[in-house]
Order: sequence, then C-alpha cells, then structure tokens
Amino acid sequence: MTVELRLALQEQRAAELSERVSRLLGPFSGSERALDSGSGTGALAFALAAHVGEVVAVDLRAEYMEAGRERAPENVRFVEGDAMALPFEYGSFDIAGSLRVLHHVRRPELAVSELARVTRPGGRLLIVDQLGSVDPLRSMELDRFERLRDPSHTRLLPDADVRGFLEANDLVLLTFEVVRERVDLEQRLELAQVPEEDRVRIRGLAPGAFYDIELGWYVARKSGP
Ligand SMILES: C[S@@+](CC[C@H](N)C(=O)[O-])C[C@H]1O[C@@H](n2cnc3c(N)ncnc32)[C@H](O)[C@@H]1O
Repeated sequence: MTVELRLALQEQRAAELSERVSRLLGPFSGSERALDSGSGTGALAFALAAHVGEVVAVDLRAEYMEAGRERAPENVRFVEGDAMALPFEYGSFDIAGSLRVLHHVRRPELAVSELARVTRPGGRLLIVDQLGSVDPLRSMELDRFERLRDPSHTRLLPDADVRGFLEANDLVLLTFEVVRERVDLEQRLELAQVPEEDRVRIRGLAPGAFYDIELGWYVARKSGP
C-alpha cells in the first residue's frame, strides 16, 4: 500500500478512532507509556497521544515511519522494529495496542504474545483487526481476494483464534465490540494505484463494488497488580 493511501485512510478514520480509543481505554492518568505495534503512519499512536504521556510507534516500513514522524505530536516516537520480536523489555508499557496488523504478519500468535510480554502486569491491551469467517472455505476465498488487492495481506483470523491468543497469554478480555465497515472497492483500487489489467480480476473476485467487513475490537487486561 502506498504512503499516500495509508495517510488518506488514516485521515478518513481519525475522528472515529479517537472517540473509540478514549471510550474503550479511558480514563487515563495522563502519564501512561503506550505502544502502537505495526503503527504504519501512526493512526493508533496519534489517537493515544492526546491522552497519555508518551507513545512509541513501531513498524518495519521506513517510508511509513518517515511520513508519520513528519506529522507526529511531540510525545510520539517512531522506532523501527518487528511486531513479532519487539525491541523492548518485559513490562515496558502501561498500554499496548495494534490496529489492523494481525492479518499482515506471518505469525499473529507471536505478535500477540509480544504485546503481552511488553505490557506491565495490570496494564491494558487493545487489539483491533478485520475478522475472518468461521467457515474456513469462506475465509480462504476472502483471503484470496484480499491478497490480490493488497499483496501484504496474509490471513484473516476468526474471532475464536484471537480469543485463543488472549487466553494463551493470560490476558483477560474486558470488552469486545464488532464494528462493520463499508469498503468502496473502486476508491481503494484508485488510491492504491492498482494497474488497470489487475483490476478486472480483482473486481471478479470481490464480494461486490461495495462490501462490508467486520473489525473485532478487543480490550484486555494483563493479569497482575
Ligand atoms: C494495514 S497496516 C496498519 C497500519 C496502522 N496500524 C493503521 O491502522 O493505519 C499494517 C501495518 O503493519 C506493518 N507490519 C507488518 N508486519 C509487521 C511486522 N512484522 N512488524 C512491524 N510492523 C509490521 C506494516 O508495515 C503496516 O504498516
């Protein structure tokens, strides 16, 4: 995905994200240290920055981080790193989150266990990702289409898998919401500058010109004081 597309989507979603972050993670003391793992250009980091003392945004793509740095509030710092092997000590953060990242990593269970490791006991986690279908064939079809549209797509996880990852890391689910999002396929193809010859195939596999996806919002607490 191009930097321009990422920034355009970030802008489009900023107000709603900010409202949801403050409602689901607040109240804040104002001095928390927070992590945005797989930050891209910093969508979650910027939403958290208004409420906490410091945010560290981690991503692998230098061009996303560069664009994020240019727009970042003073209390946001971008660090290059791998969500599956975060460059931080155990318990470094009061709040750790990842937004729309799990379906882009090869080993999502490692991305969740790393978020859990770097969160302090008693700290909170926010995991948001597009959900896969409980029907494996439907999920495979969706993944095939999404991968064509965006080659960095790996696999959508069904809700049960995300819950399993939380349980495996001793994380207690506090709230869970499903949010439906309408995707305008032509707008995405245009913004991503997909070559015309590829668009025909993508349109053929798409659920429709407009289709709804489901995002799971999981807020969890790490056991401890
Ligand atoms: C769909 S984007 C979401 C970006 C941002 N969180 C947002 O919601 O705007 C997925 C992001 O995950 C990053 N990513 C993928 N694999 C990663 C990894 N192993 N470690 C860190 N970041 C990764 C990509 O570079 C990309 O920025």
